[in-house]
Amino acid sequence: MPSERTRILLTDEGPALVYGPVEFVLPDGTRTYSQRPVTALCLCRRSRRYPFCDTSHRKRVRSGSEGRC
Ligand code: FES
Repeated sequence: MPSERTRILLTDEGPALVYGPVEFVLPDGTRTYSQRPVTALCLCRRSRRYPFCDTSHRKRVRSGSEGRC
């Protein structure tokens, strides 16, 4: 049994947080690496830095704000 496990935290509205150094393999076979302690992996596909989250998932169009002071 491995002594260390990779932890992936799935958030409600944003990225998956991957703990520890990690290698990603994209559908086209491209490999990319992250040495960060925690890497935010984009699940919404809006990131300009895909496969990494750039917080684009937070951008929302305000509705119902017309006419307010
Ligand atoms: S999850 Fe953050 S930009 Fe996609």
